[in-house]
Amino acid sequence: MAGGRFKSSTRDIPEVTSVPRHIAVIMDGNGRWARKRLMPRVAGHSRGVEALRAVIRGCIERGVEYLTVFAFSSENWRRPADEVSFLMQLFLKSLQKEVARLHENGIRFRVIGDLSRFDAQLVSIIREAESLTAANTRFHLTVAANYGGRWDILNAMSRLMARHPERRDGFSEDELAAEMSMSYAPEPDLFIRTGGEKRISNFLLWQLAYTELYFTDTLWPDFDAAALDEAIRSYHGRERRFGRTSEQLKAAVEAEGPNA
Ligand code: IPE
Ligand code: IPE
Ligand code: MG
Repeated sequence: MAGGRFKSSTRDIPEVTSVPRHIAVIMDGNGRWARKRLMPRVAGHSRGVEALRAVIRGCIERGVEYLTVFAFSSENWRRPADEVSFLMQLFLKSLQKEVARLHENGIRFRVIGDLSRFDAQLVSIIREAESLTAANTRFHLTVAANYGGRWDILNAMSRLMARHPERRDGFSEDELAAEMSMSYAPEPDLFIRTGGEKRISNFLLWQLAYTELYFTDTLWPDFDAAALDEAIRSYHGRERRFGRTSEQLKAAVEAEGPNA
């Protein structure tokens, strides 16, 4: 059960490391990046894949263990059909091109989200990539595709209820967390949203309970290693109190280190 493997931010005080262990990113601003250059919006998506490649490398070099990126939300189906189909093709092509390299670099790849609306070819390449990289432990890359935070919570609850139809007294946080799509990862330490909007847009609603939030106007295709360092620098300036007072936190750090 995931509840035992990673500490829940609401039930325990999770481990706080100087480098964020898990970074979650809303890669926003591709369309505006392209429009500023009088290019079609989708050109921004293509450039966005290059930015992601650089950020994966940057995270590995800095000792981050988990990177979770929002590639397509459950609400992005509302976009024009040609943009949606371009994004699906881009996902497919990028996977075909990159999977071998991800594997060579010891990266475990996973997709979270409802894949039932994706075409069979895309689903099969996702599943192949997941199984090819299943034994890798150096770095965990998760792509959220047709993902919605509300879907994730409802899905987890439905699974629990189906498994325990007899249960009358409800479920524990640990039981629910174990059914969530990111039960294999610690909760994100740092959330980054590029592109200037200050909202969560139905990303990891459950998992972001105590995550440090960082918003930047930088458009995703321009987000590079220096921008990543800036986000991590901002994270270093945060005091992660998890409900305690600043004095309690300082006393705990003096007594037993930052994880106390
Ligand atoms: C984010 O960039 C990528 C996806 C949502 C797929 P956008 O396409 O939202 O870019 P903007 O926000 O319109 O600039
Ligand atoms: C959020 O970006 C989803 C992804 C980056 C995949 P959007 O651009 O779709 O978010 P809203 O619509 O501005 O909230
Ligand atoms: Mg956007």
